[in-house]
Amino acid sequence: MKIIGGTASTSLAQKLAETVDGELVKTEHKTFPDGECYVRVLENLDGEDVVLVQTTHPDDKIIELFFWQDAIREYIIKRLIVVIPYLGYSRQDKKFEEGEAVSVRALAKRIEMGCDLLITVDAHSPHTSSYFQVPFEDVSGMPAIAEYLKEKDIELVLAPDAGAIHRAEMVASALGCPFDYLEKKRLDAYTVEVKAKSTDVDGKVALIVDDIISTGGTIAAAANHLKEQGAAKVVAACTHGLFVEDALDKLRKCDDVISTDTIENTTTRVSVAGEIAKALR
Ligand code: R5P
Repeated sequence: MKIIGGTASTSLAQKLAETVDGELVKTEHKTFPDGECYVRVLENLDGEDVVLVQTTHPDDKIIELFFWQDAIREYIIKRLIVVIPYLGYSRQDKKFEEGEAVSVRALAKRIEMGCDLLITVDAHSPHTSSYFQVPFEDVSGMPAIAEYLKEKDIELVLAPDAGAIHRAEMVASALGCPFDYLEKKRLDAYTVEVKAKSTDVDGKVALIVDDIISTGGTIAAAANHLKEQGAAKVVAACTHGLFVEDALDKLRKCDDVISTDTIENTTTRVSVAGEIAKALR
């Protein structure tokens, strides 16, 4: 199996190659003075199963993905498996207002061209798969997060809203502790209110899990609420750490913040390579 890592997912592609005993392909990538990108495959891929790994965030990484797909399809390969660790735009998976684009659907149409299997990680909502006509597998970063937190004495796992309860449940069952969810109300893109809910966290080490931390508004509101309720410690964990602008500053009430390598950042402690490898096998 040949593995190609785009510039958004270089380390993860390397780890994946080690995990599946695949070969990392030599490639070239550069950016022209006008900002346009250039990609080139430097090995023959004829007759191979090829795995392309590239997170589609920020936007220039989307264009780069399309160019890798095009370059790989120049060869007579067996299959192209596209791994998108963080599928950007997965939160715009329906029309919330008349006239809006369903952004992830628009992306899906192009991504699936020349793709034989798509693997994503915590693709926000189960709805996303309906936009892809190609075989689609969504794996979760939660088992790897739970494994990392095994020795951290977590006593309760919370989802910031009811829609994310399955993630809290997954981690809680691996850690052998209870789980619950908070009542979240989004006021705008930056502001989130966690409605008063009596949660028995007094003196406990609580973990909040979410798929994405973007502005940090959700986790900040949840952590503030839990500390007000007497939590001894609050740990926040997410699969995709976008941490836009001053998100990490907003999370100062958290005693620890961790994320996976779907988006490499300073809080990355966990790799999803093992979960992707399981899907590949
Ligand atoms: C929303 O449904 C997601 O699961 C996350 O809770 C959300 O994207 C987090 O965004 P922010 O960090 O900006 O509150």
